[in-house]
Amino acid sequence: MKNLKAVVANWKMNHLRADVEAFCARFSAGYKQKEGVAAGIAPPFPYLELVGNKLIPAGVLLFAQNGLDKPKGAYTGEVSMAQLKDVGCYGVILGHSERRQYYGETEATLAPKIVAARENNLLPLLCIGESLAQRESNETLEVISRQLAILSQVGQGDIWIAYEPVWAIGTGRVATPAQVEEVHVFIRSETIRLLGKAGDEIPILYGGSVTPDNFPELLKTKDVGGGLVGGASLDPEKFRQLVLQTQE
Ligand code: PGA
Repeated sequence: MKNLKAVVANWKMNHLRADVEAFCARFSAGYKQKEGVAAGIAPPFPYLELVGNKLIPAGVLLFAQNGLDKPKGAYTGEVSMAQLKDVGCYGVILGHSERRQYYGETEATLAPKIVAARENNLLPLLCIGESLAQRESNETLEVISRQLAILSQVGQGDIWIAYEPVWAIGTGRVATPAQVEEVHVFIRSETIRLLGKAGDEIPILYGGSVTPDNFPELLKTKDVGGGLVGGASLDPEKFRQLVLQTQE
C-alpha cells in the first residue's frame, strides 16, 4: 500500500442538503478514478448516505468524521462503527485535533475506537499533530512519537495517518515543505520502528490549510502520501483539482 496516495475531504460541520447535492453533481461531472490514488469524502453524519449513493459508484471512498467504540446500546448521540459500515463507509477519521481539543479525545479513548473500526472493516484514518506552543518549545517530534505510540497498543491492521499541525488547520498558515518533510520522515521511522515492515506501507497524509496552490509542492515532499483537506474541500472544483494533482 506504500505507493497508494490519497486525498480526503473533511467537511467538518459544513453544508446542508442542497450544498451536498450540488457538490456531488459538480464533482462527479469531472472526476475520473485513477489506480493508486484514492479520493475520499467525510461528510457530516446526516449526509453520509446521500454522498455515498451519489459518489461511491464513481469510486469515491466514504469516510465518517468520528465513531464510537461501543457496539450498540444506550449511548445517546453517538454512532457505532457498525452503523457507519452499514451506510457504506469505507473508513473513519479518528483523533482529529478538533475532537481532541473540544471533546477530550485522547490516546486512551482513541485506541478502542481504532480496534472497533477495524473489527467492522472500517479503515481508521488517525490524525496526529502538535500545537503551536509545542512546536515553539521544540516538542514536535516528542508529541508525534507519543501520539503514535497508540500503534503498538492496537497492533497490526490497516490504518492511514494524517499529520496535521494544529497551528496550520483552518488558519491559512501552511507548514513549509521542509517542516512537513521533517515530520513525515520521522513518522515513517516511527511506524517502521513500531510495526516493522507493515509500518513502511502506511499512507501518511498532510493536512492543514491545503489548497491547489500549495499542494503540488507538498506532494513532492518525501513520505507525503496525499492530503486531508478541510476548507478547500468544500468547493467541488478545488477538491477535484487536489485529486488531479495527487493523480499526476
Ligand atoms: P483545513 O482543515 O484544510 O481547513 O486547514 C484540515 C483539517 O482539519 O482536516
